[in-house]
Amino acid sequence: MVAEYGEARDIIGVIRGCIKHVTTGHSHHVLKLAYILGLRVSTNHRRLGVGMKLVKHLEEWCKQKGADYAYIATDCANQPCINLFTQKFSYTKFRSPTVLVQPVHAHYKPIGSGIAIVRIPPHVTAKVYRHLFANAEFFPTDIDAILSNKLNLGTFMAVPKKLLPKWNPETGILPQSFAILSVWNTKEVFKLQVKGVSKLTYACCMGSRLLDSWLPWLRLPSFPDVFSQFGVYFLYGLSMRGTNGSRLMKSLCTFVHNMAKDDVGCGAVVAEVSQQDPVRVAIPHWKRLSWNEDLWCIKKLADLQEGECERSEMSDWIKSPPSSAGIFVDPRDI
Ligand SMILES: CC(C)(COP(=O)(O)OP(=O)(O)OC[C@H]1O[C@@H](n2cnc3c(N)ncnc32)[C@H](O)[C@@H]1OP(=O)(O)O)[C@@H](O)C(=O)NCCC(=O)NCCS
Repeated sequence: MVAEYGEARDIIGVIRGCIKHVTTGHSHHVLKLAYILGLRVSTNHRRLGVGMKLVKHLEEWCKQKGADYAYIATDCANQPCINLFTQKFSYTKFRSPTVLVQPVHAHYKPIGSGIAIVRIPPHVTAKVYRHLFANAEFFPTDIDAILSNKLNLGTFMAVPKKLLPKWNPETGILPQSFAILSVWNTKEVFKLQVKGVSKLTYACCMGSRLLDSWLPWLRLPSFPDVFSQFGVYFLYGLSMRGTNGSRLMKSLCTFVHNMAKDDVGCGAVVAEVSQQDPVRVAIPHWKRLSWNEDLWCIKKLADLQEGECERSEMSDWIKSPPSSAGIFVDPRDI
């Protein structure tokens, strides 16, 4: 939806919404959830109620479509957005996953010895994810649509090489020790660019990059060229099991880094996981580029009658503690 202004019908605000069925992390319960994203009002028209009008209209559309809940994600420091949703529309601060960012260097990174990386076909991945994320929050029932999307670059599993002869990835039966993730190419949807840095910062970053390109064997942790437009690979469906899980996840992330290095214009590999998720410590990232709290706020839209509300599991989701199985971050929401 857009907000138009004046006879010229200038577009001064925009908002997007989508609806899907997701798990709530409790007893395989599924509900209809609206995701509100992309809210932006032009700087000259802020604080005039345009943002509120856009949210109000989008919420009405979501209700008409039968959504039970709506949620938004924002940076925990974005006070205008938090005030708008929590104070004016009664959203509740719900979850705060962590965003981990790994820059793509000019050299390849070595993958741990004794580890094999195997590509998993989409139909097997769907089965594996339904099993692994059965008790997670926000797992979409249309996972097959995500996995068959052209932005999905594939699902990969890291396993100890010694397990390979006894394991057939086509069966969907999981080995004792493994790490799994899927890669989403956001580069084809949007690009980012860093502006306004000092000449010194620019020179240091570009200098380290040149050196890294000329002498890759030095393995300098160089900064990518983020001053021209660049894209990112988004990792989702991250999960690991077994005693070697953490090492396998690190190797898998290294594998994706090397994939991104081969893709011109890919500047970073990004993952978003819940703070309690054990994979969090296994994902390589730069602290200065990452942020601890991406704030997710939620609201119940469905008008349930008294009594009906008490009986419904839906009424409990906002108050329920985070599921120990973590959250599934849908790459389409990025
Ligand atoms: C957030 C944003 C969409 C608000 O749009 P807006 O049209 O200015 O918002 P409204 O005029 O409808 O304001 C509604 C309420 O939001 C809150 N709010 C808006 N701007 C605020 C600010 N700068 N500081 C604190 N609260 C603010 C207030 O509660 C405000 O009510 P009030 O004016 O009665 O105090 C706008 O600032 C924007 O485009 N920001 C950049 C993009 C962005 O951060 N998008 C949000 C992603 S979730």
